Amino acid sequence: MKFKTITWEKGKIVLIDQTKLPGCLVYVRCATVKQLWQAIHDLKVRGAPAIGAAAALGMVLGLSKKNEKSFPELKKNIDMLFKYIASSRPTAVNLAWALGRMRNTAVANRNKPVMAIKKLMLKEAGDIIDEDKASCLAMADNAQVLIRKNDRIMTYCNAGMLATVGCGTALGVIYRANELGKNVKVYSCETRPLLQGARLTCWELYKHKIDVTLICDNMAGYLMQQKRINKIFVGADRIAANGDAANKIGSYSLAVLAAFHKIPFYVVAPYSTFDLSLSLGSEIPIEERDACEIREGWYKRSMVAKGVKIYNPAFDVIPNSLISGIVADTCLIKPPYIKNIKKLRKNQN
Ligand code: MRU
Repeated sequence: MKFKTITWEKGKIVLIDQTKLPGCLVYVRCATVKQLWQAIHDLKVRGAPAIGAAAALGMVLGLSKKNEKSFPELKKNIDMLFKYIASSRPTAVNLAWALGRMRNTAVANRNKPVMAIKKLMLKEAGDIIDEDKASCLAMADNAQVLIRKNDRIMTYCNAGMLATVGCGTALGVIYRANELGKNVKVYSCETRPLLQGARLTCWELYKHKIDVTLICDNMAGYLMQQKRINKIFVGADRIAANGDAANKIGSYSLAVLAAFHKIPFYVVAPYSTFDLSLSLGSEIPIEERDACEIREGWYKRSMVAKGVKIYNPAFDVIPNSLISGIVADTCLIKPPYIKNIKKLRKNQN
């Protein structure tokens, strides 16, 4: 099945509207940066690498409406767009990483005419997209040493094609395993409150003929106890220098359960998801979303008495001690994470 999560078409950003899945596969066209901001904020486009790619194109889109005469004028608009687009969602570092690359491209070419700089920025956004596709394939290959025939893998949220512009992070690993004939079976947790696991992961795996079974989040421990799961693979939104990894709320609970049941727990993420400026996961900003997502998100009427307080953090942090390995695009990282992630930094610089 072929679909493109994000494309640049005739000066507009075209995105799959993920809020409409699995019912309808429809696309939205963002003609303004405000529309893109809203699409990211409302999770029409979501998943760390995908929002990074969308943000890079958002910068191009914003600048296409301006007519700067000099580099300082251009730089001012770039800084403004950076701040605005980055404010759409705080946790996934890929957003600021992609915007930073766009800004660096402009600064490195500051002596060229403004139009030439903008062309180079469009090319940079294209490179970010192409590199994400390549990263996904590399992570999928790097993980294969961890996967045996007939593994029963649990996953969480959606770390697949819809969350990237390639074959996905955690789900890319599963697609590749099955291409290699490993006959992997997947258990997808629903992922309350926004149901990315049920709506998106199950949709994409089922469309690709992968054996997938949906469970409610609170069934995960029971399945582990019944020995129906032998590995867990999830994505990440930001990984600190010590290997602590932020991912969709509920990932921490799964990791604790996995440790209790001695089930290996792997995080799959590209280099763009590492934030080496943070030494600990506790420094990662955690997005808090609107209470309505819990109160009436998928129901016709409110599921809680009027006036009851609701807390809706969108992510949590998996401590490095609960992570058996981090599958990056460059290599498979094993503990001790502080030392081995430092090596990664050295190789990248
Ligand atoms: O709120 P979301 O749907 O954007 O959260 C996404 C996740 O938590 C994914 O697991 C993560 O971005 C990894 S994507 C390859």
